[in-house]
Amino acid sequence: MAERYSSTDLDRWTSDGAVLMPRFFAEAEIAPVLEDFETLFADGYPHARAAADPQSGETVRMPPREQFQHTRMMPFDCSPALNLLALHPALIAFARAALKTEDVRLYQSISWAKFTGQADFDQPFHMDYYNHTLTAIGDEARQRTVNFSIYATDVSDAHGSIRYVTRGEGDKICGSLRPGMPDVSQQEALRGIERSGAGPSGTVLAYSSDIYHRASNLTAPEGRRYVLFASYKAAMNDAVDFVAWPSSVPREWSRLYSADANPWRHFFEHGSPEQLACLNIPPPGNPFWTETTLARTQARWPQWDATPWRQAMTRRA
Ligand SMILES: [Fe+2]
Repeated sequence: MAERYSSTDLDRWTSDGAVLMPRFFAEAEIAPVLEDFETLFADGYPHARAAADPQSGETVRMPPREQFQHTRMMPFDCSPALNLLALHPALIAFARAALKTEDVRLYQSISWAKFTGQADFDQPFHMDYYNHTLTAIGDEARQRTVNFSIYATDVSDAHGSIRYVTRGEGDKICGSLRPGMPDVSQQEALRGIERSGAGPSGTVLAYSSDIYHRASNLTAPEGRRYVLFASYKAAMNDAVDFVAWPSSVPREWSRLYSADANPWRHFFEHGSPEQLACLNIPPPGNPFWTETTLARTQARWPQWDATPWRQAMTRRA
């Protein structure tokens, strides 16, 4: 297929901290992902709930918990399609270019379903990094994060499109100290210049976690919005994190210890060495791999095709 993104998109990411890339993924690529969303959130369609009053008063109104009701952390109980989407080679390539390093890690992958009437989805402008690091996001490319918002449905403004401002615009209104939660008057000013992240299914918005953005409400009748969030960082950036992949597992022991029932099997059965490396699984040729570790990992994931790892080990011997 045609190029998914251009050097102009990368330049925009560098200068603005955000870039919207319509139809990054083709319809045929999104179709099985959409099916996975329907599987995961089949019971998500809502009992109607009244929307809250719009922002008013002296304090910033925080989003209700119901907003986050239909969020799931990877791995997902569905087909490989949604599971492997966050690790698509084109996303890895974009993250490498944006972070100016070949060695990148996926540190978050969350599927999020929203339905009209399920909750009041309006959010105040905020930055995401307050729960990605305990300090601040560094200024060098390699210290940043790339957060992908991947649309599995058409997302119009009536389907709760994300609203955002560029890094420069945000700094102008809120100052270079970049408070994670701007005050009421700053919120108002940001809303005055906000951009819409609306786009057809397959669109990808790449944004840095120090970009002001907010979710908006779904108003389309019987509307639904399925989005996958995937976040990358440089491999050596220990200051940024969100989830430890080995602890994102089924709670039931019968599934955790079953190669057939543990959803991480999707990654071993379908992931390339390059994709698995983004989850901290050592690549072929890494000294971690010995006859013993390879045999033990193979025993744990019998369907894993370990050929590239075995070949690299043979070459090293
Ligand atoms: Fe956010």
